[in-house]
Amino acid sequence: MIKFANPDIIAAASKDYATKQDTESLTKVLEAVSTILKEEGEVFIPVLVEQDGSMSLETLLNEKRETFVLCCTSQFQARAAGYETTINRRLSDYIDMVMQLDAAAGICVNPGDDYPFTMQKLMLQALLAESQKAPYSNGIKLFKGDITTMDVDCIVNAANNELLGGGGVDGAIHRAAGPDLLAECKILMGCPTGQAKITNGYNLPAKFVIHTVGPVYNLNSEDPRHMQERSELGSCYRSSLEVAKLYHIHSIAFPCISCGSYGYPIEEATKIAFIEVVQWLNENPNYGMQVTFVCYDDEAMDVYKSIIDNAQHPDPDAPNFMSLLTGLGKDLPKQ
Ligand code: APR
Repeated sequence: MIKFANPDIIAAASKDYATKQDTESLTKVLEAVSTILKEEGEVFIPVLVEQDGSMSLETLLNEKRETFVLCCTSQFQARAAGYETTINRRLSDYIDMVMQLDAAAGICVNPGDDYPFTMQKLMLQALLAESQKAPYSNGIKLFKGDITTMDVDCIVNAANNELLGGGGVDGAIHRAAGPDLLAECKILMGCPTGQAKITNGYNLPAKFVIHTVGPVYNLNSEDPRHMQERSELGSCYRSSLEVAKLYHIHSIAFPCISCGSYGYPIEEATKIAFIEVVQWLNENPNYGMQVTFVCYDDEAMDVYKSIIDNAQHPDPDAPNFMSLLTGLGKDLPKQ
C-alpha cells in the first residue's frame, strides 16, 4: 500500500557514513533525518521510570563529557542498546523539546548500534528549520500535455466507480503506471462519485495517483440534477486535495475531470474546478500546495487561459465570480 519512510533509514545511512566518513554519506544521513521529520515519523525514546512513577530521559556522555539524550529508530534498536522502556514521539516534537533542554548538547541516534549517529543542537536546529519550511507556496499552474509524464508528487486520475481502469486519461495512467496499479486498485473496492482514493504511482514519474470519479453529465440541460453534478464535480477536486494533504503531498496535477467520456461541458467544468481549488488554497494558506491543471488539447488550454484572463483582467460589467483566484501562483503562463 502507500509507503512512508521507515525511521530505520537513518540507521542505514549512519552505517554508511561511519564507514565512509565523507560529505556525501553525511548528506544522506541528514536527508534521512529530514525525510522522517517531514513525514512526521516517530522515534523510540529511552526513558528511566523513577520511584515516584515519573520518567526522565536516558542520557549518555561523549568523550568531551557532553550530555546527549537518546533516540532509537526502532524498538529493536532500543533493546539492542539495553533500553526496555521507551516512549514514542514524533521526531520533530522530540527535537523541539531537546532544544529547550539546556543540559543536553544534542541527540545520539541508536546508541546501541555499531554506528550510532550524534547530532549536536546546531545541526538539529537546521534540520528542524528545513523541515518546517513550506516546500511550496500555494499556487496554480497550467500545463498542456500528457499527465502521465508529469514529475509531481501526485497526478489525479479521472476514473470510474469500479476503479479498474478504462479509456481516456484512466487508460493512459494505467498503461504508464504498469500492472501493479491495477492490482492495488482492486484492493480499494471501487470509489463513489465525487470521492477520491490514493495509490502508489509505480512506473509513473509521480509518486502517487489519486483516483477520483466525476459525474456523468446529463445532456438534458433542463435537468435539475445539474446541481448534483456540479456538487459532485466540485467534490472531486476538494476530496483529492484533502487526500493529498493527508499524505503530505505538495504538488498535484488534475486532468479535466468528466470533460471527456462523461461529457461535462468544459467551460462549466473548468469554472467549478477553479472555484473549488482556489477556495481550498485559501482555506489552507500555509500548507504549500502547487496545483497544476493539465490540458490535453488546445481547446482545454484556451478555456483555462480565458478563465485566468477574466480573473486577472476582470470585465467591470461581468460578475467577477473568480475574485477567489487569490491563490494564483506566480508561475502562470504570461498572457
Ligand atoms: N493526459 C491529460 N489529460 C488527458 C489524457 C492524458 N494522457 N488523456 C485524456 N485526457 C483528458 C481528456 O482530453 C479530457 O479532457 O482528460 C479529460 C477527461 O477525459 P476522460 O479521460 O474521458 O475522463 P472522464 O470524462 O472523467 O470520463 C471518465 O472515462 O476513461 C474512462 O475509465 C474512465 O469510465 C471513466 C470515464
